[in-house]
Amino acid sequence: MSHTQVAIIGAGPSGLLLSQLLHLNGIDTVVIERQSRRHVEGRIRAGVLEQGTSELLIEAQVGGRMLKERLVHEGFGLGFSDRSFRVDLKGLSGAAVSIYGQTEVTKDLMDARTAAGARLVFEAADVSVAGFETAHPTVRYRHEGRIHELTCDYIAGCDGYHGVCRRSVPAGALQTFERAYPFGWLGVLADVPPATEEILYSNHARGFAMCSMRSLTRSRYYIQCGVDEAIEAWPDSRFWDELRARLPASVAASVVTGPSIEKSIAPLRSFVVEPMRFGRLFLVGDAAHIVPPTGAKGLNLAVADVRVLYQALAERYRTGRADALERYSERCLRRVWKAVRFSWWFTTIMHKFSDEPFAHRLQLAELDYLTGSTAALTSVAENYVGLRFDAP
Ligand code: FAD
Ligand code: DHB
Repeated sequence: MSHTQVAIIGAGPSGLLLSQLLHLNGIDTVVIERQSRRHVEGRIRAGVLEQGTSELLIEAQVGGRMLKERLVHEGFGLGFSDRSFRVDLKGLSGAAVSIYGQTEVTKDLMDARTAAGARLVFEAADVSVAGFETAHPTVRYRHEGRIHELTCDYIAGCDGYHGVCRRSVPAGALQTFERAYPFGWLGVLADVPPATEEILYSNHARGFAMCSMRSLTRSRYYIQCGVDEAIEAWPDSRFWDELRARLPASVAASVVTGPSIEKSIAPLRSFVVEPMRFGRLFLVGDAAHIVPPTGAKGLNLAVADVRVLYQALAERYRTGRADALERYSERCLRRVWKAVRFSWWFTTIMHKFSDEPFAHRLQLAELDYLTGSTAALTSVAENYVGLRFDAP
């Protein structure tokens, strides 16, 4: 039996960042992860960091490589009706976003935690959490054939949508809100120069398509696909043809094709659980909420939760006061719901929901209105770069 102040379940970006920030505040943690380190580091996911996210990585002393390697984007593109419109993020909101892969964020955090001698347990099986409605929570897991029990003051459930923490709260104590979308995103990563200088989201009668990147030599593309489609049905040649067919012609002409180095299908859903705290268990990031990726908000929301939780825990250990911890759920959920709304709206105007021509005409009218109205564009820009934090 061993003890830590905060037991963190999950070594995704939220678990690792929370562990790092608590460490810098003199608070001891143990991170317990189901997968291997190699698996966690290999997952290809988000690519866009809000300014507040970059700032928190710098505060956590893991921003050095990001500041050197990131691409700063002061705008993004909207493609529709065979044209491409630039949303001037900087001009409209005063802020920009950083292109730096979640894979790299995870690697930087993992290196920093390892260098500091953190207790990270990978390949932990049968993880369970208990006692969080009392002052003595516990975590049990099996590692290298032995059962381990860890006692702690608090548990941070950073274990993603499929994790164990949310499911351990008694039925009836949490309320869930959910919407599944009738399509997924087929993503391809390839070592070819990007077709566009900035990210481009394209509405097309055949379905949504998107051009993104990880660097000046590595591209990330997505197309809308059926949720149940098999990845084998999408050989590279079919993917590139379909991508080009859904982009404005001038952009399609700039697509450089090459062998995919990663290809996967992700379902799209909106999901929120309330409250995000139950006794001494705090749900963080994807464990508490999922947004469709269109607004690039998933990772940024997870980091925003970590900011609120680490400050509240630091206050608790520094002063003994727990009122900021009491307000954790309420503070996070105000931001979460605004991001859920933005991601839902952006998904709704960019994707094909049916074959009904009326619905597509409405989307085109909305995009035409949006791109002609500084008021509407300003609203999009301030949501995309990340809303300011509400007053505590
Ligand atoms: P996660 O990254 O999910 O980390 C949770 C960790 O907990 C994992 O390492 C998992 O192995 C571990 N875990 C799970 N169960 C247990 C258990 N029982 N015990 C111990 N450990 C456990 N966002 C965007 O903004 N843009 C994108 O393009 C984008 N693409 C995505 C594609 C996919 C396939 C997915 C799943 C998500 C994507 N997201 C995207 C969302 C973004 O990646 C997430 O919001 C972000 O990873 C959330 O971080 P997290 O640390 O909260 O959760
Ligand atoms: C990426 C993913 C997104 O969901 C998004 O909105 C922008 C970029 C990406 O993976 O690069």
